[in-house]
Amino acid sequence: MTIQSILLVGCGRMGGAMLAGWRERSLAASIAVDPAPEAEQNAGADLRVVANASAIPESFSPAAVVLAVKPQNAAETLPLHARYAGRAVFLSIMAGRTITGMQALLGPSAAIVRAMPNTPAAVRQGVTVACPGTGVTPAQRDLCDALLQAIGKVAWVTDEALLDPVTAVSGSGPAYVFLLAELMEQEAIRQGLPADLARLLARQTVAGSGTLLATSAEESTALRVAVTSPGGTTKAALDVLMAPDAWPALMEKAIAAATIRSRELAG
Ligand SMILES: NC(=O)c1ccc[n+]([C@@H]2O[C@H](COP(=O)([O-])OP(=O)(O)OC[C@H]3O[C@@H](n4cnc5c(N)ncnc54)[C@H](OP(=O)(O)O)[C@@H]3O)[C@@H](O)[C@H]2O)c1
Repeated sequence: MTIQSILLVGCGRMGGAMLAGWRERSLAASIAVDPAPEAEQNAGADLRVVANASAIPESFSPAAVVLAVKPQNAAETLPLHARYAGRAVFLSIMAGRTITGMQALLGPSAAIVRAMPNTPAAVRQGVTVACPGTGVTPAQRDLCDALLQAIGKVAWVTDEALLDPVTAVSGSGPAYVFLLAELMEQEAIRQGLPADLARLLARQTVAGSGTLLATSAEESTALRVAVTSPGGTTKAALDVLMAPDAWPALMEKAIAAATIRSRELAG
């Protein structure tokens, strides 16, 4: 399926990852706007890269405007693209920018989908939760779904408030998993393993377990139980990790803290 004409606003890490995914499916003539000199490297037969909004031809009529700038750039950037309201759907991946906040910058008639992806998008293994604002047509929703599927799995919610816990679980979640790899590597070294072996074991254990989880039909609990023999080594470790004041309490506190922070940052 060819991806319809897109205006990509911000072609950094996340915008660039989405673009790469769209190109795998074939992309109709599109434009990316990004002032960073390195953004020009993304130019090709299907994509013109311009440094600012004033260089976009008046005649350009994208089906979607994808907002992939940093949230702190929203106030200065979004009004530059308000003219597409009523003609295109806006797909925002900016953390914490609410549909109401974006409508204040784009106009009340703007059809907006707000989405929260995560960093495994860089390898097309992300997960994105999307929420449609009022006035988004079924065709626009389908287009946004296709644009997001290019970087991994997609789920939809209708209650925008759910994007705060989503941010806490999947948006910030990759950092929790990377921390796990870091801590396992550090402890492996303390237990006497050479640093390069410690690094290999920690990374490949996290990555391999992730692939197993992604490809298995089993619940994560069942996969855990399957490697936990009574009286064995895994059980000894899990008795520490699963003590009520250990990981269960810490995960509860961590995700609650991230959810609260997401609400505080929203605007
Ligand atoms: N990375 C993640 O894990 C993640 C997860 C969920 C959501 N997000 C969201 O994704 C968005 C992009 O994040 P990112 O990590 O891809 O950031 P990034 O790599 O910094 O990309 C943003 C790009 O936008 C450019 N830019 C700045 N002002 C602009 C303007 N007025 N018009 C067009 N482009 C402009 C920046 O150029 P300069 O560098 O020159 O400023 C940069 O190239 C953020 O809103 C973030 O909240 C990211």
